[in-house]
Amino acid sequence: MTIIAIDGPAASGKGTLARRLARQFGFAHLDTGKLYRAVGLAVLRFGGDPEDEDAAADAARALDPADLDDPALAGDEAAQAASQVAALPAVREALLQFQRSFAAHPPDGAAGAVLDGRDIGAVICPDAPVKLYVTADVEVRAQRRHKELLNRGAPSIYARVLEALQERDARDAAREAAPMRPADDAHVLDTSAMDPDEAFRAALDLVEPALAAASEEG
Ligand code: CDP
Repeated sequence: MTIIAIDGPAASGKGTLARRLARQFGFAHLDTGKLYRAVGLAVLRFGGDPEDEDAAADAARALDPADLDDPALAGDEAAQAASQVAALPAVREALLQFQRSFAAHPPDGAAGAVLDGRDIGAVICPDAPVKLYVTADVEVRAQRRHKELLNRGAPSIYARVLEALQERDARDAAREAAPMRPADDAHVLDTSAMDPDEAFRAALDLVEPALAAASEEG
């Protein structure tokens, strides 16, 4: 199975890129952030604390793929709770198998899969033939997320969005369990000065030769 692993900080554009790469190659796509968002939201809905490891691990084990379609997953409440539950080793362990199974047997008989998240290249799919770490300056990322919220008709204040991203990045990078950082063999793609089309072309320049080399190796 051919895997494209995409990691990076919040609102770096990795989701858009992952979707476009999946379409380009006819691969399946898994936004692994949704798994952590769904777990975080489930804990909040049960009136629990997203830092309670037992409660969060129970929610992770009970996760139903249908939960991943909940529009509330896109909100900031889900994002912050996601980054709290994501720091708990028992939660990461409970979600590992789902991600590995998706990579090994992508739905609809697809010939490969694109997974995006924080630890895909380093932990979930360390043998992926191509790994990208998509990043951008935090102010650029906050602007993008702010615009995205306004476009969705959600209320948004730029300064709050920036603060929330900084808080989440700091937690994701500092945690002991699978901290956010590029895998040793990842290509770092800084999209600060790129629009989505430019980022896609830059990614293709990295991905196409890597996939060609992987298919030659058999
Ligand atoms: O879309 P955005 O980049 O804002 O975030 P996301 O990818 O939906 O991830 C939400 C949170 O889940 C992150 O802040 C991480 O704490 C966590 N996460 C993780 O730890 N590992 C992953 N593979 C994906 C997400």
